Amino acid sequence: MSNDSAEEAARRIDSYIEELCSANDEALSSALENMERNGLPHINVSANEGKLLYMLVKLSGATRVLEIGTLGGYSTIWMARALPDGGRLLTLEYEPRHAAVARTNIVHAGLSDRVEVRLGAALDLLPEIERNSEGPFDLFFIDADKENYPGYLEWAIKLSHPGSVILSDNLIRNGSVIDPAPDNPTAAVINKYNRELATNPQLETIILPIIRENTDGLGITIVKAPPSS
Ligand code: SAH
Ligand code: DHB
Ligand code: MG
Repeated sequence: MSNDSAEEAARRIDSYIEELCSANDEALSSALENMERNGLPHINVSANEGKLLYMLVKLSGATRVLEIGTLGGYSTIWMARALPDGGRLLTLEYEPRHAAVARTNIVHAGLSDRVEVRLGAALDLLPEIERNSEGPFDLFFIDADKENYPGYLEWAIKLSHPGSVILSDNLIRNGSVIDPAPDNPTAAVINKYNRELATNPQLETIILPIIRENTDGLGITIVKAPPSS
C-alpha cells in the first residue's frame, strides 16, 4: 500500500493551495521568525488553516472574537485581519514568554488597536470576562491545552449568543481520537469532546480535516438558541 505517497500527495496539494491562496506576507513571516528565535514550539496553525480562520471570521461577520491559546499570535494575526473597523479580538495566554512574543508580533502587524493579549490561565480569566460583561462574543477559537477543551466549550457557550461560531483546533490528531489508546488520555478527552459537539442539541458541528505534518481537524460549530424552558 502506498500510504507514504498518499501523505506526500496530500502535503504537495497543501503546499500548492498555500502558494496560491495563503502565502505569508512580511508580518506573518516575521511573526514566525520571531517565534523561532524565541524558541516557541511549532504548534501554530498552518498558513492554510490561518487563511481558513480568516475566511470564517469574514463569512460570519464576527466583530468580537475570543481566542483561547495565543502562542506567538500567528493565528491571532490571521483572524484580527478579517475584522471590520471597530472589531476587537481578545486572546488568552498562560505563558508570559509566549504572550510577550505575541504582543511584539501584533504590534509589528499593525493590529495592536484591535487585539488584546491577556495573561493568565484561561479557566481563571473566563469567569472574570463574564463578570465584567465583556461578552457575548461572535466567534471563538479554542486552541489551548486539550485537557481543558470541555471546560472551554462550556464557557464559550456561556459567553455566546444564538449564531455565535465556536472553532476548535486539533480534533483529529492523526486519527488517534477515533479509538483512543489507553495511554493517550488527551485523545480520550477529545473523543468525548467531539461527541459532545456532535450531539449537544444546542450545537451544530462539522469537523474539517486539516493537512499538517499529520492529518488534524478543525471543528466548526454554530450555537443555536438555548432550549426554551
Ligand atoms: N493559536 C496559536 C497556537 C496556540 S498553542 C496559533 O495557532 O498560532 C497553545 C497555547 O495555549 C500555548 O501558547 C500555551 O502556552 C497556551 N496554554 C496552555 N494552557 C493554557 C491555559 N490553561 N490557559 C491559557 N493558555 C494556555
Ligand atoms: C499541539 C497543540 C496544538 O494547538 C496544535 O495545533 C498542535 C499540537 C500539541 O500540544 O502538541
Ligand atoms: Mg492547535
